[in-house]
Amino acid sequence: KNCISIGLLGLGTVGSGVVKIVEAHQDRLAHQIGCSVEVKKVLVKNLEKERAITIHKDLLTTDATEILDDADVDVVVEVMGGIEDARRYILHALRNKKHVVTANKDLMALYGTELLRVANENKCDLFYEASVAGGIPIIRSLVDGLAADRVTKLMGIVNGTTNFILTKMSNEGRPYEDVLKEAQELGFAESDPTSDVEGLDAARKMTILSKLGFSMDVELEDVQVRGISSVSAEDIDYARYFGYTMKLIGYAKRSENRIEVSVGPTLISHSHPLASVSNEFNAVYVYGEAVGETMFYGPGAGSLPTATAIVSDLVAVMKNMRLGVNGTSAVLPQYPKELKDDHE
Ligand code: HSE
Repeated sequence: KNCISIGLLGLGTVGSGVVKIVEAHQDRLAHQIGCSVEVKKVLVKNLEKERAITIHKDLLTTDATEILDDADVDVVVEVMGGIEDARRYILHALRNKKHVVTANKDLMALYGTELLRVANENKCDLFYEASVAGGIPIIRSLVDGLAADRVTKLMGIVNGTTNFILTKMSNEGRPYEDVLKEAQELGFAESDPTSDVEGLDAARKMTILSKLGFSMDVELEDVQVRGISSVSAEDIDYARYFGYTMKLIGYAKRSENRIEVSVGPTLISHSHPLASVSNEFNAVYVYGEAVGETMFYGPGAGSLPTATAIVSDLVAVMKNMRLGVNGTSAVLPQYPKELKDDHE
């Protein structure tokens, strides 16, 4: 086959970015994977809606089966968000032997283990680099880059919207509502921004990172979560006065025989590298027994940064296709939620 066909589920902020990158980087993609990439069909809710990108009307459909049951579609890219429909579509795609790339952290935090297992059974890839920290290749870094090490602690700013709000409140003295509105307009916030400001989005991402970093079956319901809605401008000013910056920090640590994960507003000393992570930028601090401290930094939200993660997953799928090893690289948690002593 000299062309790879993708079916896109969703054409919002991230989906539009994927179309743009696939078009603009066609030469580069062809060089990396040895063939061209074609967006064959795109699932949308509304065919008539005005869009930020120009796309041929014939490519749009409101019927998911036109993608999921099309034998010519090689890879399904899920960027529609939400849980139940997305889960059903992904399972359908995998059972039809299509590889899947998703940006869906809600889904991967709740059903990641199940979906990865189904992908394995069907010899399909299921990649989700875009689900955590947008443009930072943090999943690949944990799975491959630090494969030889034993991670002991993860600390991260993994929600762009809240970091944007806290930065602007602190540096420009702007009111909370005003900055939240700007974050929504810039395409950082979730469609319901409650999950950003109440810390749930960060908790979902910390669940995914913890599973990978510690290879344990961490569950979302075990994460202790507090958002930034209770943080006032005065809190931020006081913190600043004493040499601290207020950040929404996700924290995960090995403790005894389990992993403790939490998300909450935290005072970070100005001298700590995480204090200088501003606006929609994200950073993940990883402590490994052998490597010591590492920090991964970059844009955590927004159309093109998130789309780069999706398209690099597409490249990974295609490289696996060439080698005939699809479905072999999914990492399932090695240990259950609570470790027995002999595992430690
Ligand atoms: N709403 C998310 C954020 C988008 O602000 O980080 C990226 O996952």
